[in-house]
Amino acid sequence: MLIKRPADIAPSEITQPELYFGRRRFLRDSAGAVLVATMPGLAWAPPTLAAAKLAATKNPDYVVDDDPTPKKYVTTYNNFYEFGTGKDDPVENAKDFNPKPWSVVVSGECEKPGRYHFEDIIKPSELEERIYRFRCVEAWSMVVPWIGVPLATVLKRFNPTAKAKYVAFETLYDPKRMPGQRRPVLNWPYVEGLRIDEAMHPLTLLTVGLYGEELPNQNGAPIRLIVPWKYGFKSIKSIVRIKFTEKQPPTTWNDSAPQEYGFYSNVNPQVDHPRWSQRKERKVGGGFFSPKVPTLKFNGYAEQVAALYTGMDLVKFY
Ligand code: MTE
Repeated sequence: MLIKRPADIAPSEITQPELYFGRRRFLRDSAGAVLVATMPGLAWAPPTLAAAKLAATKNPDYVVDDDPTPKKYVTTYNNFYEFGTGKDDPVENAKDFNPKPWSVVVSGECEKPGRYHFEDIIKPSELEERIYRFRCVEAWSMVVPWIGVPLATVLKRFNPTAKAKYVAFETLYDPKRMPGQRRPVLNWPYVEGLRIDEAMHPLTLLTVGLYGEELPNQNGAPIRLIVPWKYGFKSIKSIVRIKFTEKQPPTTWNDSAPQEYGFYSNVNPQVDHPRWSQRKERKVGGGFFSPKVPTLKFNGYAEQVAALYTGMDLVKFY
């Protein structure tokens, strides 16, 4: 996502995920092969951390035609610059991050500002599983069974006032725990924002899990947004602040490259990114030879969200 010179482009951004994984695995496995070869019956396997299970009711209203992307891709091919800019950096660099305890500071145009513990925000009985399409601005996509609570359910508890026209979100800033923040690749902390009607839309999910488990660190533990009709960078991770504002809040990628990333960032195949087309996408995990598939307006959620933008020029407000 960075503004990059060709030499800076990560291999993961120019190579299909499957090829990229295959090459990394080859390099890694050849290092372990000598040892394994001398130990009959043993096969090399990457170390795994046991993930905590998370119970949630499946919501049949939110499913898609495609099968979910295999979990190994969703949890190892990540964008989380706080833990490095490579796709496989977050899984490695976030493995010791401890997201508990966690609290979120709520402020701005609402009647109940304050610091709320994770447990005050997320009620286990309200958790639901929803299968969403997820489209990154880099033209790859996934299908993920997320677990969360509609953001509206949570925001309403803070009684936003009539002046609350937008909601701003902020990721934890802690360079000791988030090594990527020790380098000025972005203006830290990562910030994002939604118009209040987008934030209150039933599709917008405050997310705490995936595939029946608590969110892995690399996917934004313990609490992140999922806004499925917008490019993935709107889905801010590891949120510590929520602020109701009267004015449109700044957003990290818009600050960093305004000509490339707008505030709205609705998935729109008709508006190209200045450096690549947004007409098609590659499904992560689809196999070596899987063809690109057409990208759908609002990522396939037009029926639900197009009315939010009636009368707006979506080329101007990209
Ligand atoms: N949130 C923070 N704090 N930092 C990031 O670098 N990357 C964004 C978004 N949220 C990012 C972030 C981008 S570009 C994408 S595509 C998604 O997270 C990736 O989410 P995933 O790794 O769970 O697939």
